[in-house]
Amino acid sequence: MSDGLGDAKAQAQLKDFTNIFRLDGKVAVVTGGSRGLGLHAASGLLQAGCSKVFITSRKSDACKEACAALNALPNLSPGAVAISVPADSSKISEIEKLVREVGKHTDHVDILFANAGATWGADFDSHPENAFSKVMDLNVKSVFYTIQKFAPLLEAKATQEDPSRVLITGSVAGIGVGTVLGPNSTFSYSASKAAVLHLTRNLAVELGPRNILTNAIAPGFFPSKMASGMIGEYGGIEKLAKSNPNGRLGQPEDIAGTVVFLCSRAAGHVNGDITVIDGGKMISAGRL
Ligand SMILES: NC(=O)c1ccc[n+]([C@@H]2O[C@H](COP(=O)([O-])OP(=O)(O)OC[C@H]3O[C@@H](n4cnc5c(N)ncnc54)[C@H](OP(=O)(O)O)[C@@H]3O)[C@@H](O)[C@H]2O)c1
Repeated sequence: MSDGLGDAKAQAQLKDFTNIFRLDGKVAVVTGGSRGLGLHAASGLLQAGCSKVFITSRKSDACKEACAALNALPNLSPGAVAISVPADSSKISEIEKLVREVGKHTDHVDILFANAGATWGADFDSHPENAFSKVMDLNVKSVFYTIQKFAPLLEAKATQEDPSRVLITGSVAGIGVGTVLGPNSTFSYSASKAAVLHLTRNLAVELGPRNILTNAIAPGFFPSKMASGMIGEYGGIEKLAKSNPNGRLGQPEDIAGTVVFLCSRAAGHVNGDITVIDGGKMISAGRL
């Protein structure tokens, strides 16, 4: 009869955890990858070993510049490359074009980071209908159709043991009511982020059997072009940082690290989850 200790030791030795966070050879697509959170993630994905990272956003020059910066990183794997594929994610025809362009360089995709998003600030009484629709379209509808159109490439090499990953950028704005109210209220943005977090759960159940895991991140404030206006409304970076339990706002490595983790073997059984990246701000909202 065994005391179990020998068995446990043998099992631990059989497991190879040395590359559990590595993404060697993986192919990734990052929407809204030309700057901000998308660029931080793309940088993390490449440095974790991805062989190809496709950068997409509306502006061709911005995508090219981002790729040039990524391709100049000193610690990339041999042959690893960032490839610019500009497209407007708010248009289905452009999403289809994006999939076709990506398909010219690869026969499969392992990681899709659906991150492109927009916001709009206006008061309740005059909140414009076209802005509301624009935000919902890009932040929710386009996320769904980007995933739908990429599904064949995501499924192409995915297996139960090595599933593909879809990662969606939500926001703490889709969980709590913390955004600016008054003249720059972000009603459509908050609603869109709540919707996309629930879409994540639905897709996790739909796509899990197709060997695709779907998760979301919900960042708090990260300085970026989109966030700068709202950070200003709240009194600036320093004031906001002080109001966080950990005394700071988000930094590039916070996004890169979480994205790499959720796309790695280490998160191979995480599906339909939402990772909040806000230093504990949201749960401390009621603190005196
Ligand atoms: N920063 C924060 O504090 C924060 C917090 C929570 C969630 N988020 C979310 O994080 C995501 C990225 O935001 P960010 O802060 O990194 O903003 P950002 O720096 O302004 O970047 C936005 C990115 O999306 C692209 N984009 C915008 N509209 C697009 C469209 N129609 N089609 C394709 N690409 C488009 C932009 O490039 P082009 O202009 O070239 O299209 C850019 O690459 C968004 O979903 C946002 O809601 C941000």
